Amino acid sequence: MKSAEYKNLNLLQMAELATKIANELTVGSVVCLSGDLGTGKTFFAAMLINKLTGKADSVTSPTFNLVHNYPSPKGEVWHFDLYRLKSQVEVQQLGIDDALRYGISIIEWPEIIQSILPENCVKIAIDFAKDESKRNLSISFAQ
Ligand SMILES: Nc1ncnc2c1ncn2[C@@H]1O[C@H](COP(=O)(O)OP(=O)(O)O)[C@@H](O)[C@H]1O
Ligand SMILES: [Mg+2]
Repeated sequence: MKSAEYKNLNLLQMAELATKIANELTVGSVVCLSGDLGTGKTFFAAMLINKLTGKADSVTSPTFNLVHNYPSPKGEVWHFDLYRLKSQVEVQQLGIDDALRYGISIIEWPEIIQSILPENCVKIAIDFAKDESKRNLSISFAQ
């Protein structure tokens, strides 16, 4: 397991980090985003998706729809928000198995499906920093 810690990232630095990570993603990649409400999971996901699709400002939070899909040159991008879901079966009904196998998956609130996530998923945890415009972030992934 490899990990990295980033302290006091502003919005622009978060966006730059997301762009770098997006460049590494391919079909079968899974990015898990953990952190309290308002830490910036959807913002980070949007920056990943903008880079993958090559379009700016196309991303809205899947809080209500639970999943949004975006075509990209690298494959279909699936953006999940599992906050309101209670069981793994509900997540499977959203198509998570296809997403994991044939798409690029970006998952907010991934805790409920921990057991079906691939070993090589990229885990990102975001925390508020003291300055309210900044965030601390840690990334871990299998090598
Ligand atoms: N350094 C930062 N990184 C990420 N988001 C930030 C930062 N500073 C301020 N914000 C703001 O915090 C909010 C995070 O909201 P959102 O991404 O919806 O959070 P979550 O999905 O974790 O609930 C956004 O309005 C964003 O503009
Ligand atoms: Mg969100």
